[in-house]
Amino acid sequence: MRLKDKVIIITGAGSGIGKETAILFAKEGATIVVNDLNEESGQQTIDEIHSNNGKALFIQGNVTKTKDVQYLVDEVIKKFGRIDVLFNNAGISGVGQLHEIEPETWEQVFKVNVYGVFLVSKYVIPHMMERRSGAIINMSSCIAEIGLANRASYAATKGAVLSLTKSMQVDYAKYNLRINALMPGTIYTPFVENYISKSPDPEKTISTIKKRQLGEELGKPIDVAYAALYLASDESKFMMGAHIYIDGGVVNGK
Ligand SMILES: NC(=O)c1ccc[n+]([C@@H]2O[C@H](COP(=O)([O-])OP(=O)(O)OC[C@H]3O[C@@H](n4cnc5c(N)ncnc54)[C@H](O)[C@@H]3O)[C@@H](O)[C@H]2O)c1
Repeated sequence: MRLKDKVIIITGAGSGIGKETAILFAKEGATIVVNDLNEESGQQTIDEIHSNNGKALFIQGNVTKTKDVQYLVDEVIKKFGRIDVLFNNAGISGVGQLHEIEPETWEQVFKVNVYGVFLVSKYVIPHMMERRSGAIINMSSCIAEIGLANRASYAATKGAVLSLTKSMQVDYAKYNLRINALMPGTIYTPFVENYISKSPDPEKTISTIKKRQLGEELGKPIDVAYAALYLASDESKFMMGAHIYIDGGVVNGK
C-alpha cells in the first residue's frame, strides 16, 4: 500500500493514462477523486475502482472553467479535509504545422493543456500550503524536448507545462510541496488510437511511431501510471522539479 490514506485528485481520469493511474493508485490504498469532462467515462473509472473494493469519487468538470474547478476543490476539502496529491493529467491533442493551425485550435489546446494546469493548481495549492505538505504531478510529454512533425501547438503546450513545473517547484519548495513532471512517449490510449485511425495510412503511422523509439512495442497507460505512482508516493520525497521520461528511449536512447 504505497499510497495508503492519501487523497488524490486526477484530472482527465475517465480515459487512457488518467484512468489507468486512478485504478492503480486506488489499489495502492489512496482515495481517488476522478475528474473528467465526460460524465460516462468518469463514472466507468469509478465503477472499476469500486469493483476492486477501492475508494473513489467522481466529480464531473472542465479544468478550464473556474466554477467547475472551485467546486471540485471545495467538494474534496469538504469531504476529505485535505488534498495530498494532484495529478494534472487532462489534455487534448493539437495536430498541424503552424501555418495550418486555426487560431481557435491553438487557443483551445493551450486552454486545456496549460491554462487547465494553472487553474486547478491555483485552487489546490493554498490547501497544500496550509498543511505544508503535498505533491503535484504535471503531465508534459517527451515532445516538449524534441521536434515532432505536425504537432506545433501540442508540443508548445507541453514545453510550457515542463517549464511551469520547474517554476512552481522553486516557488513552493518552502511550503514543502513537490512538483514534478512526466514525459511520456507514444502511449497507446484513445488519444493516440484516434490519431492513428484518422491518419491516411494507419499501418505506416504505427511504423513511423515505432521508428522513433528503441523498443518494439508502443507504451501502455500502465507504464506511465507506475512512474506517476512513484512521484505520488513518499518514496520520491527527494525529487523536486524533476521530469521523468517514459518513452521507450525516444529522447535519451539514440
Ligand atoms: N497518449 C500519449 O501518447 C501521450 C503522450 C504524452 C503525453 N500524453 C498526455 O497524457 C495526458 C492523458 O492523455 P491520454 O492519452 O490518456 O488521453 P485520453 O484522451 O485517453 O484521456 C484524456 C482525458 O481527459 C479528458 N479531458 C479532456 N479535456 C478535459 C477538460 N477540459 N477537463 C477535464 N477533462 C478533460 C478527456 O475527456 C479524457 O477522458 C494528456 O495530457 C496527454 O497530452 C499522452
